[in-house]
Amino acid sequence: FRVDWDMEQTEKDGFEHFMLKEIYEQPNAFRKTILNRIDSAGKNIVFEGLQLSSEQIHRLDKIFIIACGTAYHAGLVGKHVIEELTRIPVEVDVASEFRYRRPIVTDKTLVIVVSQSGETADTLAALRESQRLGAKVLAITNVPGSSIARDADEVIATVAGPEIAVASTKAYTSQLIAFYLFGIYLAQVKETIPEEERKVMIEALCKLPEQTEVVLQHANDIRMYAEAIKGHSSLFFIGRGIDYAVALEGSLKLKEISYIHSEAYAAGELKHGTLALIEEGTPVIALATQTELYEKMASNIKEVKARGAHVLGVTLEENIELHRNVDDVCLIPSAMALFTPVLSVIPLQLISYYTSLALGNDVDKPRNLAKSVTVE
Ligand code: G6P
Repeated sequence: FRVDWDMEQTEKDGFEHFMLKEIYEQPNAFRKTILNRIDSAGKNIVFEGLQLSSEQIHRLDKIFIIACGTAYHAGLVGKHVIEELTRIPVEVDVASEFRYRRPIVTDKTLVIVVSQSGETADTLAALRESQRLGAKVLAITNVPGSSIARDADEVIATVAGPEIAVASTKAYTSQLIAFYLFGIYLAQVKETIPEEERKVMIEALCKLPEQTEVVLQHANDIRMYAEAIKGHSSLFFIGRGIDYAVALEGSLKLKEISYIHSEAYAAGELKHGTLALIEEGTPVIALATQTELYEKMASNIKEVKARGAHVLGVTLEENIELHRNVDDVCLIPSAMALFTPVLSVIPLQLISYYTSLALGNDVDKPRNLAKSVTVE
């Protein structure tokens, strides 16, 4: 017993919990996931071992992304990325829903299944069902020898290393990196973005590990914010577009380990119901990283502030305007619109970590949850 405890301490590498260690491992996980997937000129994405032919890519009329939990949230970001870069329609579904609703999948559909463990029962069943319907299946997984990796037609491995904490962090962000690489790759094959633009994107992608390190340097400010919200019984995360996808992940993370109820809402949808739940002091975390949507977000922030909400804004460092509208602000380095989720999710991971810690919960092994769900 004693030996196990010592081993666990060693594996934690000086961090109090696996989750915190894994949060800090993100920059290196990105570097490893990107490594060898960009050519030496920095112009093209290369996927060694990918058999999907250019002809098959040109024939695609739809992409399905299927996953569970956090991996599903990565898929929601993936939809924005692929649609924006390739104009191929993308549908995202949770595996347990996809399986039971006679999905419209043909041999012109590419199904992407996303799974950290590669063992989630519903995702595996969705993979098999998609193949039965004639689709090619590409797996984005962190475990190359897993059942999902073995059964899929194509595999893009995330190179995040073992993830021990039940709440997924580095696997999620590495899945985002995989979507960026694959989205740019599809655009390269389909020639849907100019070569010069692709080069700029690849450069921006390679900056993400360093920018993530910058975000991590502000972990202490976030710790203070966690202290402030720990006594609340309900929180809201709001955002638009790709920020909404991140809001969903932030909310899930908080629920998983702090057990505080929270809800993620598309900011423009607030006034259709949820606004009724905002009262004096309700914490609202507002993601505003999309320059094109700043004005719209600013008016949603005003809507909640007018009802007494305490707002933390997560935005890009150059968005000075937002400061005046929020109570607290968390700045992330300037990044391309599609890439901000990698950076904006880090403070949300840290908020859930520190809140869980402040509440004395078992951060790495939250009640009722399992790391890998191999039952249907
Ligand atoms: C479990 C975990 C989640 C995870 C989900 C999907 O519910 O607790 O953190 O996102 O399974 O897991 P997978 O291994 O397929 O990504």
